[in-house]
Amino acid sequence: MKILVTGGTGFIGSHTCVELINAGHEVVILDNLYNSKIDVLDKIKAITGIKPKFYQVDIKDYNELEKVFGENNFEAVIHFAGYKAVGESVSIPLDYYDNNVGGSINLYRLMKKYSVDNLVFSSSATVYGDNFEVPFKEEYGYGNTTNPYGTTKLVNEMIINDNCKANEKASAVILRYFNPIGAHESGLLGEIPNGIPNNLLPYVAQVETGIREYLRVFGDDYDTPDGTGVRDYIHVVDLAKAHVLAIEYAQKHKGAQTINVGTGNGYSVLDVLHAYEKACGRKLEYKIMERRPGDIATSYADVSKAERLLGFKAKYDIDKMCEDSYRFYQNNK
Ligand code: NAD
Ligand code: UD1
Repeated sequence: MKILVTGGTGFIGSHTCVELINAGHEVVILDNLYNSKIDVLDKIKAITGIKPKFYQVDIKDYNELEKVFGENNFEAVIHFAGYKAVGESVSIPLDYYDNNVGGSINLYRLMKKYSVDNLVFSSSATVYGDNFEVPFKEEYGYGNTTNPYGTTKLVNEMIINDNCKANEKASAVILRYFNPIGAHESGLLGEIPNGIPNNLLPYVAQVETGIREYLRVFGDDYDTPDGTGVRDYIHVVDLAKAHVLAIEYAQKHKGAQTINVGTGNGYSVLDVLHAYEKACGRKLEYKIMERRPGDIATSYADVSKAERLLGFKAKYDIDKMCEDSYRFYQNNK
């Protein structure tokens, strides 16, 4: 398939491009480089032997986006482009809605206009909110999102579902990611956070490289085995492979499907810290702090739908996730 990958130079997008190319698909990347670098294209080439065609375009710019559709005969779109910082979304909500919802509507309109019927969308487990029992099942629907970022994901899910109902040719797979971490085994691709990392793994990595003094563990009084928050961490390469299966599924099935992508296993903050210590071969400092507002105790996926519909099963464990992250951060200090 000839596939437009929006946000394709980003963390998850770049890994997905590698897996799409490995699976024999033709990839065209579109990104405004707001949160990624152009040299990712050379890294994709170093891994796969192919440098994808690239457009530096903002999805908010309808006319520029239309030129990309006009010049290419896409069969599918995988849509990663978006802002993703939870805390920032609380301070600048209009920018988040404009980019993540407004930009996406431009894309969906052009898909319709140019008869590009197959979509995979990056959603998040954040749409379950704190309303449900684990493991989170797709049929639960939506919980209360606790920040504008999460709400942009929920709104996109609704738009995609409505659009598929209104357009019998359209097909979409909405992937609800749990907690993607890790990096490509080559050490070439990974996640470089902007500023102080919000997410656990990049923060742990910065403690290891000496940028941060210690890990702040947000709460040890949750109802979990060691009292710290439990999440379903998934290796980004596993997640990337799920996208290949999802876009191939969309091509064969009309309508919209929502599918969790996780491992189905929960690890605590201290489990992740200890796995990273194993990877780097030394102890890392941490301090127990207050709970972070908006956090829930436990989140992990029911993965049976991904297995049933896509034949997807995550392969890599927490040790491999930390080993690959560690290698990437050593290469990119
Ligand atoms: P990322 O920031 O590394 O990648 C997103 C890419 O989109 C970046 O390269 C950025 O430059 C680009 N972009 C942003 N706005 C754009 C615009 N208006 N036009 C064109 N390009 C634009 O993030 P990621 O971690 O790879 O996440 C990819 C997607 O998955 C995002 O939609 C994110 O919300 C979603 N998601 C991520 C996680 C996670 O933990 N990383 C979890 C759940 C969902
Ligand atoms: C967060 C976002 C979620 C988003 C997801 C993307 C919040 C409230 N939620 O989820 O919307 O989709 O990232 O991956 O921000 N932790 C620490 N110390 C740290 C950082 C994190 O103890 O410095 C703990 C957290 O309390 C949590 C766990 O580590 O228990 C994972 O945190 P994080 O990586 O931020 O992911 P989520 O909170 O699951």
